[in-house]
Amino acid sequence: MPNDPVPELLSRATKLLEREFAALPAWESIAIDGQMTGILAEVAHRLGNNYPYFHPLYAGQMLKPPHPLARVAYALAMSINPNNHARDGGRASSEMEIEAVRQIAAMFGWTEYLGHLTSSGTIANLEALWVAGQVAQGHGPKSRIIGSDQAHYTHQRISAVLRLQYSAVASDQHGRLDLAALDAELRKGDVGTVVATLGTTAIGAVDPLDEILALRERYGFRLHVDAAYGGYFKLIQESLDEPARRAYSVIDHADSIVIDPHKHGLQPYGCGCVLFRDPAAGRFYKHDSPYTYFTSHELHLGEISLECSRAGAAAVALWATHQLLPPVPSGEFARGLAQGRAAALDLDRRLRADTRFETPAAGPPELDIAVWKVKAESPELSSQIAKKVFDACAAQDLHLALVQLPLSWFAPANRESNAQVTCLRSVLMKPEHQAWLDQIWQRLSAACTELNLH
Ligand SMILES: Cc1ncc(COP(=O)(O)O)c(C=O)c1O
Repeated sequence: MPNDPVPELLSRATKLLEREFAALPAWESIAIDGQMTGILAEVAHRLGNNYPYFHPLYAGQMLKPPHPLARVAYALAMSINPNNHARDGGRASSEMEIEAVRQIAAMFGWTEYLGHLTSSGTIANLEALWVAGQVAQGHGPKSRIIGSDQAHYTHQRISAVLRLQYSAVASDQHGRLDLAALDAELRKGDVGTVVATLGTTAIGAVDPLDEILALRERYGFRLHVDAAYGGYFKLIQESLDEPARRAYSVIDHADSIVIDPHKHGLQPYGCGCVLFRDPAAGRFYKHDSPYTYFTSHELHLGEISLECSRAGAAAVALWATHQLLPPVPSGEFARGLAQGRAAALDLDRRLRADTRFETPAAGPPELDIAVWKVKAESPELSSQIAKKVFDACAAQDLHLALVQLPLSWFAPANRESNAQVTCLRSVLMKPEHQAWLDQIWQRLSAACTELNLH
């Protein structure tokens, strides 16, 4: 947080916003009470009890610091605290949401669509599967949802909430949905929706969307793409390896797409996004509200979303970020994604050359997540040592993550085994990770030396 530009930018912008309302009669705002300063001192102290997510040596979970501009825009909007349910609650921020979502849809090549922000990827996926379930009602018994065993765990839970049957099919050695396993399920004739993940949570695997689309031609089903994590990699698809490039190149054929600006899009939490290729999906949301929708004949976002109140500030922050860093190929934002990916490939190369570790036999990361296991006599021992490495790295101020992965990904001879092994995982999603990779490697190496790993 050194040289944090947020306080000064916010102070200037707040004065400008105050001018917008200067014509109102004077009124008493809440006075600063001495207690507030004391409470905030305690808040600052308590917030110190966190991993330093903002620092390049935090290279663990999917946590990318919001851009300072997004933080300022969000905080500025909080002076108004708009609610994007209806224009009654957030006129400017509703318009900003519509504009920002249009830019996200354009990234996937969609100009005609239905879409809006949500408070999370989970809610965005819930909406997509809810619409899928409504569509399936018109198609007799074809309502089962299929995802891979690497799809985000919430798909199963969402399906249970929606009272739709959900089955997880096997993934292959790359962590991608296994096409033969999918084909076997499709032959049963009851599948209504397939969830393809572009960027799995564990390792950033990219499901073979092009081949899933070929199966859609044959069997007919709805295709939902969960790109909550990996969606923005569409911008640098040309630099990805061939299978991922093929998958991203056909993403516009999906029926619905979820992408989370609060993951890779430099936004504070509370910013997911769902898009439907067919704008007619709006008919399922049709409802009336006795309380709102009075102040404008224009679309109110609550008319096309399941949630009611939703932070307009999230839309303001995203809109502002898009002005500075538009989500377009070859721009500064896309360059940042490429830097994180370069860092992951660099880390993977170093791990592959080091006898203390084992990396997935299928090859290097598809996006920007590296995973590796510690070489040991047994999976149990390897898992135990991974936890020790995790702690020893943290003591060196390097923060990694742990993940359970199939042992067979590391030893293909064990293909039939269901054994899992605890591995180390590093999500290298900050552009700065590329420049910091030497530091990351030195600290990982030092931690392993300390543990006497050879
Ligand atoms: C692929 C994928 N889908 C969905 C989600 C859920 O998103 P959220 O945590 O925003 O609810 C995640 C979260 O990591 C994810 O990685």
